[in-house]
Amino acid sequence: MTATEFHSHPPTPFLDLASIRKSVEIDLEAVDRLLRKHLDSDVPLVNEISEHVIAGGGKRLRPILVLLSARACHHTEDNLEINERHIRLAAVIELIHTATLLHDDVVDSSGMRHGRETANRLFGNEASVLAGDFLYSRAFQLMVEVGNIRIMEIMAHTTNRIAEGEVMQLINCRDPDTTEAGYFEIIGRKTADLFAAAARIGAICAEAMPAQEDAMARYGHHLGIAYQLIDDILDYPVNDGQGLGKNAGDDLAEGKPTLPLIHAIRESDPRNADILREAVTSSRLDAIEEVLAIIESAGSIAYTSQIATEHASLAERALLEIPDSRRRETLRGLAKFAVNRRTD
Ligand code: IPE
Ligand code: MG
Ligand code: MG
Repeated sequence: MTATEFHSHPPTPFLDLASIRKSVEIDLEAVDRLLRKHLDSDVPLVNEISEHVIAGGGKRLRPILVLLSARACHHTEDNLEINERHIRLAAVIELIHTATLLHDDVVDSSGMRHGRETANRLFGNEASVLAGDFLYSRAFQLMVEVGNIRIMEIMAHTTNRIAEGEVMQLINCRDPDTTEAGYFEIIGRKTADLFAAAARIGAICAEAMPAQEDAMARYGHHLGIAYQLIDDILDYPVNDGQGLGKNAGDDLAEGKPTLPLIHAIRESDPRNADILREAVTSSRLDAIEEVLAIIESAGSIAYTSQIATEHASLAERALLEIPDSRRRETLRGLAKFAVNRRTD
């Protein structure tokens, strides 16, 4: 991509998440107020768990995507109203995302997220699954209030695909023969589909033309793929493993064959490939140091990171369909952030 294609705004070399968040601060505060309001339940344990997962951290990346997409596609991007649908739908997306995380941490037996103990560790698996159901259904209640049938269709489809992606991943667990194509199918469903839906719904809120709406969905898709690839790299702290916010090696401990591992199995000599295959099949961390060394020497982190960068570029390229604006620059910054981040 040439620099002249994004002309009138000075190039943004790197935006940190704080400045991205700041650019939609007022909207985001409104989203948080709405989330708090809608989390209220007369069942105390539901309140406690919701509070823990919604209020306690999280980057709000997906709601930010709805907000930025809505504003970038709207002809008067700084007009704060745009009838507030984008605020509600940003909250819907965050509720759904959080519901999937509650379930995901149970499935993955994860004990840490966003630098804190997970709900399943604090409240138990049963309570986490049920609280996840609560958040899912709250999201749909809030979405029905907005009353846009197309958006409901998109979200029904998306949540269905996420569930399928999680099940596909479960089936692939401990399978060292998982292919790269299979891996991309899984991350497309479990992660990128929600990013794509968030960006598309933002565009719908702004009443964007179909071509722009599709471009935003494409942006979201590639951003989501890049984001998940980096997430999977961060699980293998080959160079720096400090302060990830979650436990390194979790994926391997679950027997989850992610791209760094798939690549290393494919590219290593038979002896090393067998060590990796055994580590996936047994899903034990005994050989983690050896596994990290093999992944490093196979160049698998660089390979994965290269593909993430390509997807971030494709995301940026999709943005050329929408008008040049400050928000569009921020969306570019978000694509860069997705590949440059060092923590979950
Ligand atoms: C989470 O996938 C995807 C969904 C919540 C659907 P992962 O299991 O790979 O993500 P982390 O590592 O727990 O965040
Ligand atoms: Mg997980
Ligand atoms: Mg998972």
